[in-house]
Amino acid sequence: MMVIQGRAYYRGALRGLALGIEDGVIRVVKKTLRGDERYDFGDRILLPGGVDVHVHFRDPGLTQKEDFFTGSEAAAVGGITSVLDMPNTQPHATSPDRLKEKRATVTPKANVDFGLFGGVLQREDIARLEPYCHAYKFYWAESFGGLAGSGEDLPGILGTLRDVSRPLTVHAEDPTTFRPRTEETLPDHHEARGAEAGEGNALRKLVSWHPSDRVHVAHLSSRVGLEALRGAGLSVEATPMHLLLDMTADLGSHGKVNPPLRPPADREALWKAFAEGQVDVLATDHAPHTREEKGETFDNAPPGAPNVETVYPLMFGLVQRGDLSLDVLVRALCRRPAALFGLRGKGSLEVGMDADIAVFDPRERSRIRSRDLHSKAGWTPFEGWEAIFPTATFLRGTLVAEARELEEDRQGRWIPLAASTA
Ligand code: NCD
Ligand code: ZN
Repeated sequence: MMVIQGRAYYRGALRGLALGIEDGVIRVVKKTLRGDERYDFGDRILLPGGVDVHVHFRDPGLTQKEDFFTGSEAAAVGGITSVLDMPNTQPHATSPDRLKEKRATVTPKANVDFGLFGGVLQREDIARLEPYCHAYKFYWAESFGGLAGSGEDLPGILGTLRDVSRPLTVHAEDPTTFRPRTEETLPDHHEARGAEAGEGNALRKLVSWHPSDRVHVAHLSSRVGLEALRGAGLSVEATPMHLLLDMTADLGSHGKVNPPLRPPADREALWKAFAEGQVDVLATDHAPHTREEKGETFDNAPPGAPNVETVYPLMFGLVQRGDLSLDVLVRALCRRPAALFGLRGKGSLEVGMDADIAVFDPRERSRIRSRDLHSKAGWTPFEGWEAIFPTATFLRGTLVAEARELEEDRQGRWIPLAASTA
């Protein structure tokens, strides 16, 4: 048996424990354990590997921005051990054949465990894609990659969700309320895709259609959005950018994302809700674009930013400063996303769960620098921010990353699908 020892986050508290691992699965948890292979991390902290249910690894078709190897390398180094990849790749992951091909293409490049989203445009897509994807994605508005559906089809799509067991992530911005303009600044982008008009309106409509509780709202950005969702019983995610940055940031096109960064009051409201545990999921929307692409004029630059390598380090850093509770972080980045998306074995350190572990040393404070990161994007919206990067990352018991470098590559696997009803 292999043993990993340290201060483990176990049943809601940090305790000095030894995790006994066989075949990549945690088999025993004890104060002390004997084992053939031992990793003793002393007083360092063992947390569940992060579960990021919103990444764009751009493979196939857009691999100048990222590929599945580099995206999942960035994830592993940053302590994220499971990802769900979005369907706006080329070709779009919108049919059984394309999902099968995408799975075959990315599996040999995977450095962390993964699942795929199926892109949904029509109600028929829900049943037809169920055997091939972990979850569905509906783009209400065009963002990047040309996969927007029509809002008029959404009620019908929501109706068919009752027949299947997978969740649907909705990009909830209503394009009929956008005010297009030539954009030069982050406030221009916010005006063009307004919080009240775009997100508030979309979410009020969505809630009025009484969708099932398997509807998940992607990247919430605003106070009106929060209000629209209150008591609606839908799950909701926030990104590190919408939680930590606003439209006054000096980022230019590098801060251009959809939905847009909002005024400071929105960010504050979102952070408060998140810190109080009212936001189910912390997901990155890791959306890499190259420096050259982002160097276009603001108006022409594509929306999106890389985030998968920095989310856990940034947020664990905030935990150590006393700005966020560890319980909230582990719930939003590990336990809840795994449960909501049916990712068995993921999201907590318990007997019977996969030994996916991020090891942190609270003394290892550093600053985020683009040159140290692994995404092909080559930049970060959090340049210079304080963070605590993991000392080591284990994927099903294998040491896959250490000291901010990949240690063993291509260990990632397709996460088994929860039973399909089709
Ligand atoms: C995403 C991308 O680049 O793929 N961009 C973004 O600004 N969020 C698309 C998306 O998820 O909206
Ligand atoms: Zn996205």
